[in-house]
Amino acid sequence: MSSLTEISVSSPADFHVHLRQGPMSSLVTPHVREGGFSLAYVMPNLKPPITTTEQALAYKHDLEKIDPRVHYLMTLYLSPELTPDEIRKAKKAGIVGVKSYPRGVTTNSDGGIESYEVYYPVFEAMQEVDMVLNLHGEVPSDASANVHVLNAEPTFLPHLFALHAAFPRLRIVLEHATTRVAIEAVKSCGNTVGCTITPHHLALTVDDWAGQALNFCKPVAKYPDDRQALRQVIRDGHPRFFLGSDSAPHPSHAKTTCATDHGCAAGIYTSPILLPLVTDLLDSFGALDKVEGFVSRFGRVFYKVDELAPALRDGGDAAVVLRQVPPERLQDNRVPERYVSADGQDVIPFWAGRGIRWEIVKQ
Ligand code: NCD
Ligand code: ZN
Repeated sequence: MSSLTEISVSSPADFHVHLRQGPMSSLVTPHVREGGFSLAYVMPNLKPPITTTEQALAYKHDLEKIDPRVHYLMTLYLSPELTPDEIRKAKKAGIVGVKSYPRGVTTNSDGGIESYEVYYPVFEAMQEVDMVLNLHGEVPSDASANVHVLNAEPTFLPHLFALHAAFPRLRIVLEHATTRVAIEAVKSCGNTVGCTITPHHLALTVDDWAGQALNFCKPVAKYPDDRQALRQVIRDGHPRFFLGSDSAPHPSHAKTTCATDHGCAAGIYTSPILLPLVTDLLDSFGALDKVEGFVSRFGRVFYKVDELAPALRDGGDAAVVLRQVPPERLQDNRVPERYVSADGQDVIPFWAGRGIRWEIVKQ
């Protein structure tokens, strides 16, 4: 705990967020700014996925129409359609990264990859033009090989090492790390390998999602010792570990297991409360002085945001001030129970109904 009661964070950046499409996008996109953020690194797992430069630019345009206050960094979905030529075109058009989803492990990943080697020419081009490879670091469950949600991430790590060895200059981000062994793996790599951490993985462990669909996401939250490792690397102020919320809204009916044949949709929604939530969590484990590095500086340096978005250099004009909420006012600073889109889809956010101990007072 710190005695600080007010902090200022310049130009907060969320380096992994799902902004969807249609009425859901209209609902959730403005929540990025409401949650304190002026930069969003946007995931491409739409239906159909964003696989071309044109699609990514059209999507960016849609997002800017919904909320022009945020700077959107766009990504492509790794699939057989993606060629080295398309990579060079994408780079020229300002697209920043390529996201890889192993087939079938999470929401809208049916078109995901099965083997990395076939993509080596694409990675070669990415390395050459300096685009970022974003890895959903899980292998698909396979009972015959004893692979399941709890070891899917550790089982993936050899792929990370192989890719880093084959493309040492390619910037790679291991997304939403959940395990101690993944943290150690990223630390052991060179400076071109970074790692995002979500707020919900700083809060939850297996006991919190087993039987509680709202806390279910991929990768699932792991053991208390794993959570400890995520918290420690933030306390250490390690510059290659930064925030990617993985805020992933689903209508509440899709989060209830009985509603679909496929079980409960994976994804936790944090965008509208993101900066207060992250500040509350970091404060709770003694890392209040690391908020600025974790939510702003480290990611911006890794992604070379100063080159991508000169307007955001040194935080631009977007310094956000947060104040600690005194205990007697905690009840007034509760997370809304739900958000409802224009077409009636309701999304229940993380920590719904719970008081957050930090609030934004200026942005
Ligand atoms: C994400 C989603 O809903 O799009 N879900 C999740 O649990 N994280 C997909 C993803 O990023 O894995
Ligand atoms: Zn995600």
